[in-house]
Amino acid sequence: MTYQPSVPNDLDAFWLPFTPNRQFKKEPRLVVSAKDMHYTSADGRRILDGSAGLWCVNAGHARERIVDAIKRSAETLDFAPSFMYANPMAFELATKIAELTPDPLNRIFFTNSGSEAVDTALKIALAYHRARGEGQRTRLIGRERGYHGVGFGGISVGGIVKNRNVFGSLLTGVDHLPHTHLPAKNAFTKGEPEHGAELADELERIVQLHDPSTVAAVIVEPMAGSTGVLVPPKGYLKRLREICDAHGILLIFDEVITGFGRLGTAFAAQRFGVTPDLMTMAKGLTNAAVPMGAVAARDDIYETFMTGPEHVIELFHGYTYSAHPMACAAGIAALDLYKEEKLFDRVAGLEDYWQEAVHGLADAPNVIDIRNIGLVGAIELKAKEGAPGKRGFDAMVRAFEKGAMIRVTADIIALSPPFIISKDQIDELMATVREVLEDVE
Ligand SMILES: Cc1ncc(COP(=O)(O)O)c(C=O)c1O
Repeated sequence: MTYQPSVPNDLDAFWLPFTPNRQFKKEPRLVVSAKDMHYTSADGRRILDGSAGLWCVNAGHARERIVDAIKRSAETLDFAPSFMYANPMAFELATKIAELTPDPLNRIFFTNSGSEAVDTALKIALAYHRARGEGQRTRLIGRERGYHGVGFGGISVGGIVKNRNVFGSLLTGVDHLPHTHLPAKNAFTKGEPEHGAELADELERIVQLHDPSTVAAVIVEPMAGSTGVLVPPKGYLKRLREICDAHGILLIFDEVITGFGRLGTAFAAQRFGVTPDLMTMAKGLTNAAVPMGAVAARDDIYETFMTGPEHVIELFHGYTYSAHPMACAAGIAALDLYKEEKLFDRVAGLEDYWQEAVHGLADAPNVIDIRNIGLVGAIELKAKEGAPGKRGFDAMVRAFEKGAMIRVTADIIALSPPFIISKDQIDELMATVREVLEDVE
């Protein structure tokens, strides 16, 4: 029997996340099914997925292999605790992830989301220093415009003002690097910008201000995604790595968006040739079919915890659903699919075509910058006088009407399709965005 989704007739109860609820409930954008590159809207239209859902459906929608794996696991082992017990798929998936992460990041801690992965990584960093007898290292450094999810740890090190400003005092002992957006020098750069590596030197200033021996970790997205795609300036990440090394500070890469092929390599760390000490991931880990996140830690960080009596828990942290069997099944199937279809290489192969296509929008109305890397593109629009964010929001609404799902952050359109997108579909997506930009005021 085919599942017939019902269209809800009462939209009151669901409080939508990161959405203007009143506008949505007046003009809902409902999707009821998805396959490969397309959603189907409740009114039966095919919607081209220009955002891989939320940067997460890397292999395209409802891939049979993943669907089958989830079905099998739901029938066989609906749930198993990972506190004191475990399911074998958790080990299999962890091993497969460790094959993709750079050495020596081979120890995998499972969570259910990117936000939980971030909070987990911050906690591991603090506990690691303490276990080594450097418990005074309690400070955390994030970056302006950074997005690290919505837990209190994540918003504290994050740097998107609206995600922080009404939620109280947050974590103490947190400082922020400057963001790397230099439009006067770098606007319309293709790929990595030339200017801005020197901004990493601000880290030296910040750690000297606090005394380097008090700093536990620095966390950055290698490519800032949610703020509207900021590609790291050439040499910037290497410089951060050097400064962290000089002072015994852990470097955490938040690879929730960039992980699993988005930049044409398994992780951004490999693309930029910089290895962090801890790495967070989620989204593409299961192709988004079941929620899951993870932290990859250096072998010796894990080993640091492995002391004391063997019956005693080494890290007092975890989630009921850590390594949930269905998520593990989806993760194993997704990673196998990426490998078999060489999807990360496919991203690398499409990058030039994608780059030219995105930059082809430079002459569309109100475009003030275009940025790209891997299979990611951002089109920044001039803000409307007195109504920042309105033009971007209208563009998102209009695109959906015209048959494309796109993501906007204020007046920045972010495009990040599934890796199975064809060149024709890239052209179609850009043509739709162009029409949208010509339509919106
Ligand atoms: C870099 C980064 N970190 C963390 C998160 C949070 O992930 P989640 O929404 O799964 O909690 C996101 C989500 O977009 C992200 O982009």
